[in-house]
Amino acid sequence: MKHSTKQIVLSSRPKGIPVLGNFEIKNIELPELKDNEILLETMFLSVDPYMRGRMNDAKSYAPPYEIGKPIMGGVIAKVIKSNAAKFKENEIVTGNLPWQQYSITTEAGLLKIDTSLAPPSYFLGILGMPGLTAYFGFLHIGKPKVGDTVVVSGAAGAVGMVVGQIAKLKGCRLVGIVGTDEKANILKEEFGFDEVINYKTTANIKKSIAEVCPNGVDIYFDNVGGEISDAVVSNINFHARIVLCGQIALYNNIDIPMGPRLQPMLLTRSVLMQGFIISNYQTQFSEGYNQLS
Ligand SMILES: NC(=O)c1ccc[n+]([C@@H]2O[C@H](COP(=O)([O-])OP(=O)(O)OC[C@H]3O[C@@H](n4cnc5c(N)ncnc54)[C@H](OP(=O)(O)O)[C@@H]3O)[C@@H](O)[C@H]2O)c1
Repeated sequence: MKHSTKQIVLSSRPKGIPVLGNFEIKNIELPELKDNEILLETMFLSVDPYMRGRMNDAKSYAPPYEIGKPIMGGVIAKVIKSNAAKFKENEIVTGNLPWQQYSITTEAGLLKIDTSLAPPSYFLGILGMPGLTAYFGFLHIGKPKVGDTVVVSGAAGAVGMVVGQIAKLKGCRLVGIVGTDEKANILKEEFGFDEVINYKTTANIKKSIAEVCPNGVDIYFDNVGGEISDAVVSNINFHARIVLCGQIALYNNIDIPMGPRLQPMLLTRSVLMQGFIISNYQTQFSEGYNQLS
């Protein structure tokens, strides 16, 4: 039986902040299922910051989305029909799949998920790419020690929330930076953050960080970049570690912004600043997954 499906395609490349007109909903007919193919029904799809970069026509670690083709990303789906040996009807899977109600794929890159462990959507969050990003970035680059002061920007996001929870388990003093009071209250009351700064309402972010980090910052997990990161770095300690995870404050910029030169501070305080892409740790994913689950 043939299936028709809705799909969301990129119809033009955004300039600055994406607008509705950059996307289009199309109806297409899927072909008959061939040998070794699987028909999937989408249950959840993940909207991740890195996708903004893929909307540009620029070389990066992931290829640009093509105009007129569906957006691809992390998806949780149910197997409707399978002509592939590894997957059976009704199993729940995850993979890098198109934004479509129904899609046809092969076994390559598709993973079964264990729904007895957690609800399916968790495999796009703490048990998926964001959780693994927090785990490897914080532990392998941040190298936390008991009593370290940790600052996390984008602290209420999918990655930041997991970094915070690992930091507390490691006995660190934890400071988050977020953009609403509601997020700040949740992080303090439910997630054990010691202090949270709302960067949108504070008059002087550099001073606010100095006030809540009287002993300086030992680990900065940087999800956002821009002026927030400049302010954290001015409070950085000797031998601190800066985990360069994301720069979301800059993703919609058309021009490259100017900022203070941070290198003298990093040099004189012997700071390690290291970027990473989660796929660097692919061979160790099972370790991260076991620890997070
Ligand atoms: N290196 C890797 O392999 C890797 C993997 C996954 C993610 N990342 C990066 O990690 C970061 C967080 O990802 P995520 O999945 O946690 O994202 P998310 O759940 O979408 O959360 C992102 C949060 O960033 C904050 N934000 C947005 N624009 C901002 C701005 N201009 N200034 C300050 N904060 C801003 C927003 O929170 P507020 O309302 O609090 O401002 C937003 O909720 C992103 O930069 C992403 O690209 C990197």
